[in-house]
Amino acid sequence: METKKLAKTEIKKAAELLKNGELVAFPTETVYGLGAIATNETAVKNVYLAKGRPSDNPLIIHVTDLEMVARYAKNIPKNAEILAEHFWAGPLTIILPLKEGILPSVVTGGLNTAAFRVPNNQDTLALIKEVGEGIVGPSANTSGKPSPTSAAHVLHDLNGKISAVLDGGVSEIGVESTVVDLSIPDVATILRPGAITEEMLNSLIPHVKMDEHFLSEKEKPKAPGMKYTHYSPNAKVYITEATPESFLAAINWAKAQGMSIGLLADKEILALFQNQVTATFELTTLHNIKLATKRLFEGLRALDEQNVEVIFAESFEEIGLGVAFMNRLKKAAGGEEFGGGRG
Ligand code: TXA
Ligand code: MG
Repeated sequence: METKKLAKTEIKKAAELLKNGELVAFPTETVYGLGAIATNETAVKNVYLAKGRPSDNPLIIHVTDLEMVARYAKNIPKNAEILAEHFWAGPLTIILPLKEGILPSVVTGGLNTAAFRVPNNQDTLALIKEVGEGIVGPSANTSGKPSPTSAAHVLHDLNGKISAVLDGGVSEIGVESTVVDLSIPDVATILRPGAITEEMLNSLIPHVKMDEHFLSEKEKPKAPGMKYTHYSPNAKVYITEATPESFLAAINWAKAQGMSIGLLADKEILALFQNQVTATFELTTLHNIKLATKRLFEGLRALDEQNVEVIFAESFEEIGLGVAFMNRLKKAAGGEEFGGGRG
């Protein structure tokens, strides 16, 4: 189930496919990425096509270290050095000004900045080394579906559209990296919350702020990807307070309308209600946010497979990792909360 180590021959084979301009999905500690060599324009175009992704939504370039970033980025501020030293390899993506003409413009959707990340997965790092160039890697899902946290999820969405997926087991973190924009001198703006929290960044560099718009669907957020409805399963998702009373009220409401129900909640809550609903997925136990984050996308996918009409999903406090969890859950729910202001 957990992280798998790949054979050297598998990595070599994947590198050959990439060098031939083909698409290969790869594991990371956050979610799986859909890889193509960043300097190959046709291959990068095919990444957008395979995902059904709008072409104005730029890609993250996966590299082995800050030295490799320097090949593509115009200048690397001190703050980027500090963050790279503390959090790479890891779930942090840094946006920097891009050297002109160094990469095909499709990579960045025409922007003069680019996003860089060093994934914390030894096999994927070996793959990038073998290829010798940065590898673009949006999450390896069909655009609009929950990001994939296993090779099976990747194949579910992209089988037939990609040449291979490297199976590295289940992604440890389960939500995409924190995106921080350092392209404007002396400010650090979090464009997407992730496992590296605002507090963690703040403890190392000054002037960290959250992009006000990343939680809002109405205004245009700075990370182009944040404006699209993401992570949406087919069922209607309602965020539900993590208490037996709230789940009971939600279930009764759905039952009265004859809807088939899925629960995405704590083991303890499922134990109370599993006989009253169509499907359940154990999100976590004892309200553990780390485990819940790891299992969120898997749970949304699993409940969708059961064709339920509504999913009641347990909410968490928006502190620490809870900020990233709730950001993704809100996107899945499209703003719907059971109890408070439904409609
Ligand atoms: O954890 C992750 O970041 C995963 C794994 C595979 O590394 N990748 C991932 O990529 O989540 P993707 O493409 O699904 O999300 C990239 C996000 C999008 O919201 C995109 O708009 C934003 O980063 N982004 C990329 N380049 C940008 C830029 N130059 N300026 C602003 N936002 C950018
Ligand atoms: Mg994505």
